[in-house]
Amino acid sequence: DDARARLIRQLSAFDWGLVRELAQLVKEQTFGPEIAEFKPAPVVPLSRPAEEVAEARRTGEAAVREGTVAAFVVAGGQGSRLRFDGPKGCYRIGPVSGKSIFQIHAERVLAAGLRYGVEIPLYVMTSETNDAQVREFFEQNELFGLPAQDVAFCTQRMLPAFDAEGRLFLDAPDHVFVSPDGHGGSYRALQSSGALDDMARRGVRHISYFQVDNPMVPAIDPVFIGEHVRTGSEMSSKVLKKREPREKLGVFADIDGALRVVEYSEMDDALQRKTLPDGSLKYAFGSIAVHAIDIDFARRMASADLPFHVAHKAIPVRGDGGEAAEPDEPNGFKLERFVFDGIPHARNPLVMEVRREDEFAPVKNLDGDDSPATARAAMMAQHRRWLRQAGVDVPERGVVEISPLFALDAEELKGKVSRLPVSDNLYLE
Ligand code: UTP
Repeated sequence: DDARARLIRQLSAFDWGLVRELAQLVKEQTFGPEIAEFKPAPVVPLSRPAEEVAEARRTGEAAVREGTVAAFVVAGGQGSRLRFDGPKGCYRIGPVSGKSIFQIHAERVLAAGLRYGVEIPLYVMTSETNDAQVREFFEQNELFGLPAQDVAFCTQRMLPAFDAEGRLFLDAPDHVFVSPDGHGGSYRALQSSGALDDMARRGVRHISYFQVDNPMVPAIDPVFIGEHVRTGSEMSSKVLKKREPREKLGVFADIDGALRVVEYSEMDDALQRKTLPDGSLKYAFGSIAVHAIDIDFARRMASADLPFHVAHKAIPVRGDGGEAAEPDEPNGFKLERFVFDGIPHARNPLVMEVRREDEFAPVKNLDGDDSPATARAAMMAQHRRWLRQAGVDVPERGVVEISPLFALDAEELKGKVSRLPVSDNLYLE
């Protein structure tokens, strides 16, 4: 009886209109032809005049000082490729300190608030799969020093997966398999949790959006916020030069005057390698999933009909004994919304180039590319660079880490280092 009640409770909470629509989508899906050649979107380049950057910085700093900017980290994903037992944000990435990714993000928010003399709120998106663990982790760590009124959580929606005939999967006798509805679910999660109202009440107008799995991302970037504000953009995005033509990053396209992200999986090999007459790569810039989003725009997107993307995945399914079994091969379809599908609806969407070595080191895989090892190496290389710029002679070997609470960037570090102890292991707190 208990099991039956649990199953009924779960099924009663489903939005069956949507479930039917999604089942239909799966049944009718066609993995269409890859996209034809398109125009790359204009990018605000790194190489712009210093005065323009300074102007953007002034605008951004003023917006932050006035309390109109909030930080928002999406952490509702399942982190299956990392194979870490726990939410990705709890992964201890600090090369010396062993700090978790969450702690590093939270400390950047705290440090930016101290720098600009304002309380910057941090919103964290979780999903049903990790919500309790994430909240507990923040509580155990005393919110990493952030005041309680400046940290809020919102939980994204879960959706069932389907087989090719549109049927649901039972992963236990009394439970239908569900998974988070994609980072595009963040608009709705912000709205339904009351986070957007909370932001409005505090006077926040711009959301600094980033993903939990990039421990190098500046939580608050005044130059980016400044470009976003001064161009009247409703949704802005950061890009960087791709490491190689086939790097798995989305590309910004200008399709009939509308800006949108073309995923790498939509581009065939030849298109990805396409060059311009001068020999340079045509689609040179990749998206790093960092955005500035206006709250009014987020509200609009929360009720917009953004598309669902279908992914063929291995779905755990109830074994003969009633236990969940993870198949080796994809056996079903998950549906997700993507945050960047908001961009074509935004007024004056802006794309800005940044340096990879300053802000992008994704933690996706257990080893190899985009793993904790490559992220730690990139973090240490950045901190060595900052120290050298500040005139400190740092050895290549050994471990280096600078806490966000000590310095958020090379400039701040310069002002702080006069006589530093130099050893093989350097940790600045
Ligand atoms: P990924 O698409 O890389 O997924 O998410 P993931 O869950 O981290 O890892 P895999 O694919 O299972 O290995 C990119 C970012 O978007 C967030 C993730 O938490 C991560 O920060 N995300 C993704 C959500 O918040 N919700 C989702 O439904 C999906």
